[in-house]
Amino acid sequence: MDKQPAQLVALQQAFASHYHQPHQLAFQAPGRVNLIGEHTDYNDGFVLPCAINFYTWVLANRRPDHKIRVLALDYQQQDEFDLSAPIAAHPCYSWANYVRGVANNLLQQGYELQGCDIAISGNVPKGAGLSSSASLEVALGLCLSTVSGFELSGRDNALNGQQAENQFVGCQCGIMDQLISALGQQGKALLIDTRSLGCAEVSIPQSLSVLIINSNVQRGLVDSAYNQRRQQCEAAARKLGLVALRDISDLELNQQLYKLSPLEAKRARHVVSENQRTRLAARALQQGDIRLLSTLMAQSHQSMQQDFEITVPAIDLLVQLVSAVVGNEGGVRMTGGGFGGCVVALLPSDKIAQVQAVVATEYPAKTGLKADIFVCEASQGATQL
Ligand code: GLA
Repeated sequence: MDKQPAQLVALQQAFASHYHQPHQLAFQAPGRVNLIGEHTDYNDGFVLPCAINFYTWVLANRRPDHKIRVLALDYQQQDEFDLSAPIAAHPCYSWANYVRGVANNLLQQGYELQGCDIAISGNVPKGAGLSSSASLEVALGLCLSTVSGFELSGRDNALNGQQAENQFVGCQCGIMDQLISALGQQGKALLIDTRSLGCAEVSIPQSLSVLIINSNVQRGLVDSAYNQRRQQCEAAARKLGLVALRDISDLELNQQLYKLSPLEAKRARHVVSENQRTRLAARALQQGDIRLLSTLMAQSHQSMQQDFEITVPAIDLLVQLVSAVVGNEGGVRMTGGGFGGCVVALLPSDKIAQVQAVVATEYPAKTGLKADIFVCEASQGATQL
């Protein structure tokens, strides 16, 4: 059996000492990295993420009543609320709103919830664009449904988490992060059609490693910038008479650009071209056409930089540094919501050391920041341990 991560062991100990008894139930849900298909999910488009071997863990014991008590080990904070009274947002702790939101949404959908004592910890870097929040929502959905004795499909768990985040936390995120955290497959990325929620498995070739580089850029006002991009896309779709930007081709968009403001035109161009790149990239990955994958990832980055305007100079620099090492033997681009966060690279393993060396010297010299590098595995979605 695999050795348990130190953080999970610490969580087990903290649970036992905080609640004066060992836990009986344990759950984990992974973070994710998106290989391509950025800001397409809330436009009903395509995404190609994989779950990664970094997790949020939730330990639990049932209670005989309707109280939920929570210990957030990473923050050394606690929360408590009652399922039989209206659930309000927490006045201070943002992490607590994920717990309250997930519970509240399940109740609103008519599920009956049992009280429980829970403890939470995780090793998904927080605020880095690797979906630590989605992994928390999904782990909690699995925990609360199991504790309460009903089954929640991965899809419904993901939708519940997304709604909780939309309503309780105020980020109008799409469905990608929760869905891949719930349904991820070992060794595979999923090509997700975010309109139908249909998923197609895409194997990641053995010859390629998934490398994530955290820029450690401090991200400010990310939710408002994210929500603003979403509004711009929705405004563009409305003016084009579409349900969503998913419903127009490159060619048709070019013919109708006059209907949009210059800013909306740029936003729409990103989404429409990114949808096309994402489907092509899934096929390229499946067929081992790394040269094409490399081009598509480079184009995706450029589109995020110039048309969607969600990259920052430090991220652009990282992409440039990695790309100079990897060339067309792999791909690299910013991943996630943007405005900082991480870069993802798919590259031959024998290039990793060289990337590490270049990033360790050039990145601090040019930005004054230090980057963290993770070699990841495409991993299984949420499970009970
Ligand atoms: C965040 C959101 C996702 C998605 C990405 C951008 O991670 O939670 O729904 O929109 O940004 O692709």
